[in-house]
This record gives sequence, structure tokens and C-alpha cells, in this order.
Amino acid sequence: MLKLSINGKSHQVDVEPEMPLLWVLRDQLGMTGTKFGCGIAQCGACTVHVNGEPMRSCSYPVSAAVGSQVLTIEGLSKDGTHPVQMAWKALDVPQCGYCQSGQILAAAALLRKKPKPTDADIDDAMTNICRCGTYQRIRAAIHLAAKTGKGVGSVIHMVSDAGDVVEQPTAQA
Ligand code: FES
Ligand code: FES
Repeated sequence: MLKLSINGKSHQVDVEPEMPLLWVLRDQLGMTGTKFGCGIAQCGACTVHVNGEPMRSCSYPVSAAVGSQVLTIEGLSKDGTHPVQMAWKALDVPQCGYCQSGQILAAAALLRKKPKPTDADIDDAMTNICRCGTYQRIRAAIHLAAKTGKGVGSVIHMVSDAGDVVEQPTAQA
């Protein structure tokens, strides 16, 4: 039996120690927000945090997570109000959505380390693949999330063709 701490809660799982953490999250614990894409640590769909670091859970043995704090998309915020989630919503980042929980976790980890990332920082950190090609909006949303508390929800945010965030006040703002 392995004891895990996920999203601040303790879980006991009876699995092989080498089972990938992703399998445990999805199949044993029913946390299906973390997605399976490639299974070989390439696409990032399965990204979670382990002690605040982004990890590709498809290639991370569950035994390595024992004694660590695991965070999944289900635990990022109670109600979708983490600044990254708010920015994602404000800019309509997702298309099919499949890659987006991994993208959001990768972005949240980046912003923890670098609260005001440059485009180069974003390019270095955001290696997750999106087959819908939402990369421009992801970059814009990370910049928007970096503007802590400024305007998300009180203005309409749009992305220009150049990928810049354009703000338009709402009627209430
Ligand atoms: S499913 Fe883990 S990196 Fe693709
Ligand atoms: S939104 Fe479809 S794969 Fe990224």
C-alpha cells in the first residue's frame, strides 16, 4: 500500500510501485482532469506538480511521489479562479481542450518561479504540445495572468494578430 498526498488530501493505493502516477490518478482515484496523450513524456498532456515542479505523470512512477505533495488540475483552485485559469477563460484559450489541463499546470509552475516571465521564459518552460495550435493565446494568457489581479473579469481581453493582449473596458468597468 502506498500513501500519497494529492491536492492536500491523503490517499492509500494498492498498486505496483512502478505504475505511472497518471494511471493512479485516473484509474485508481478517478481524477480524470489529467490527460493521457503520448505516454512517453513528450506531449505534456499529463502534467501535474510534484512539490511545485511540473512533472509528466505518464512517465513518473507512483512510488517516486510518496512523501511529496502532488497537485493536479482538480486541486489548482476550488472554483476555477486561479489567475491562470481566469486568464485562460478571459482569452478563450482552449480549442478542443484536451491539452489544456497540462498547459495550465505548466503555466502555473512557470509563474510560481517567474512571476513576470518574458516571451523567452515562456518558450523555454512551455514545451507542452497543442495539436489545435493555441500557442499564441497560451503565451498571451500567461502574460495576462502575470498581471496579478489586474482587470481579469472587469475588462474584455482579446488577442491581437501579433499575440498581444488588448484590453477593452466592459460596460461595468
Ligand atoms: S502523456 Fe505524458 S507527456 Fe504525453
Ligand atoms: S486545445 Fe486541442 S490539443 Fe490543445
